[in-house]
Amino acid sequence: MKTDLRGKHLITLQEWTKEEIDTLLDIAFDLKRRKALGEKHRLLEDKTFYMLFFENSTRTRNAFETGMTQLGGHAIFLTPSATQIGHGETAKDTVEVLSRFGDGIGIRYCTYKKGNAYMRELAKYSRIPVINMQCDLYHPTQALADIMTIQEKFGKNTRGLNFTISWTYAPNYIRPLSMPQSLILLMSRFGMNVTLAHPPEFHLLPDIVEQARKNAEENGVKFNIVHDMDEACKDAHIIYAKSWGPIAYTGSREEGLDLIEKYNTWVMDGRRMKLGQKDAIYMHCMPADRGVEVTEEVMDGPQSVIYDEAENRLHTIKAILAATMR
Ligand code: CP
Repeated sequence: MKTDLRGKHLITLQEWTKEEIDTLLDIAFDLKRRKALGEKHRLLEDKTFYMLFFENSTRTRNAFETGMTQLGGHAIFLTPSATQIGHGETAKDTVEVLSRFGDGIGIRYCTYKKGNAYMRELAKYSRIPVINMQCDLYHPTQALADIMTIQEKFGKNTRGLNFTISWTYAPNYIRPLSMPQSLILLMSRFGMNVTLAHPPEFHLLPDIVEQARKNAEENGVKFNIVHDMDEACKDAHIIYAKSWGPIAYTGSREEGLDLIEKYNTWVMDGRRMKLGQKDAIYMHCMPADRGVEVTEEVMDGPQSVIYDEAENRLHTIKAILAATMR
């Protein structure tokens, strides 16, 4: 257990050691138990966390805000248009000031080639922890909730589990690469065999795929990329099926939406769920396009853990806040 996480930025879990991630999980399980028992845990009394959102959110915003309340502190919701960021105030000037007022700052900024760079610029000048609430490359707070959920369902020792992350058809908008990239990087570090499935044009960023391969090698597990959804679901213990855009393939929104349309059979349904192990679980970070990328039968079926997964956003985010801002 690492007990010196105070002040540490969380931009990607790849920059945290396994022992540090295990510490966050340990705190998250403890905080979940304490909440269930109605035990007060005001670990961040009088502390303030800033939440800077460039895009919308249901789970992330409310988990951070509710989490700060339960920890005895306060969270402030910010957007570019509600601040001088909208008038071009720099990351440095913004965070120099907020660092003198409060105790932590989170940012959601998913625009490709901008979000992560902005966060890193903030982190360079920040004297308070900078937490990635989702960027163009990573979604670490979601991935942490996902591993917590897998441990709840299969036990703390996840070695040998087959984890599949598959692209799905969702035509209404182009989603970032942050979720599949975070998952392929993290799950092999917990001893899982990782399968990444997508149509060819929906590949992830090559350096991140290379890092995921390296993680798998170092942990003695498999990492495979396939272009067939059925093949990906076969024998899986965990089927995480969600959409992302062909962002690494084309910068054109129109071409991207046409490409999504080309693969409209990539839908998570009951037949595909049966290809997995008998005790397989279905995961999705949400929001999901019900009846489009995944059938209602799967989303509301006995193998779906989507609401436990969403609940664990709260407990894991509280663990991050408590560990880095205490
Ligand atoms: N999974 C997730 O990040 O949900 P929100 O976009 O609602 O925050």
